[in-house]
Amino acid sequence: MVKIAPSILAADFNKLENEISDVEKAGADYIHIDIMDGEFVDNETPGLEMLERAHDSTKLVLDTHLMVEDPQNWLEDVVLSNVVTFHIEAVNTETADKIIDYLHERDIKAGVAIKPNTSIEDIMPIIEKIDVVLVMLVEPGFGGQKMIESCLEKVRALRNLKPDLDIEVDGGVNLENVKIVKAAGANILVAGTAIFRSNDRKFVIEEMRK
Ligand code: DX5
Ligand code: ZN
Repeated sequence: MVKIAPSILAADFNKLENEISDVEKAGADYIHIDIMDGEFVDNETPGLEMLERAHDSTKLVLDTHLMVEDPQNWLEDVVLSNVVTFHIEAVNTETADKIIDYLHERDIKAGVAIKPNTSIEDIMPIIEKIDVVLVMLVEPGFGGQKMIESCLEKVRALRNLKPDLDIEVDGGVNLENVKIVKAAGANILVAGTAIFRSNDRKFVIEEMRK
């Protein structure tokens, strides 16, 4: 069963609690929270505030996506999350290992994200330890970009390799491309613009899940 994770980067921050409860009622499974430090990507988000406000307003799974230069330094601040995903490009294998252990000791799922130009080979040393792989379908940093379709090759390859792995995709997912995204093997779909900028969020979520 596919899970739908609205990215609150595209929500109205001024009424974030309403926005979250709206997508919850519309059938969302996760709330995806993008944390950007202005270094790993050219953009900064008030991610920790978003996480706290999300935690106070919903029981949905809080899915935190760390787009930061030094994920290890952020861990203490994101323990309210149910899933924490960090970028493999930001760490070496030893650090990745430590981050995963830290999260698992606190009953938080560990995810690893890869940018469009990063090969799945780079996550092989830790693949057995992680709960989810997040395949970026756009360069991280901004919502509202167009999906880079060639990234779906990596989703296919991972799905062949690991039939039971949670594979999350992030960036440019919408009702036009959701079929090919799911056919490639993704089972957790992040969507910001497609959900929050629609005037029928329930319809979008239901269509994506079909
Ligand atoms: C981009 C973020 C995404 C973003 C997705 O770097 O990781 O989660 O919010 O937004 P859309 O669905 O608009 O591409
Ligand atoms: Zn994200």
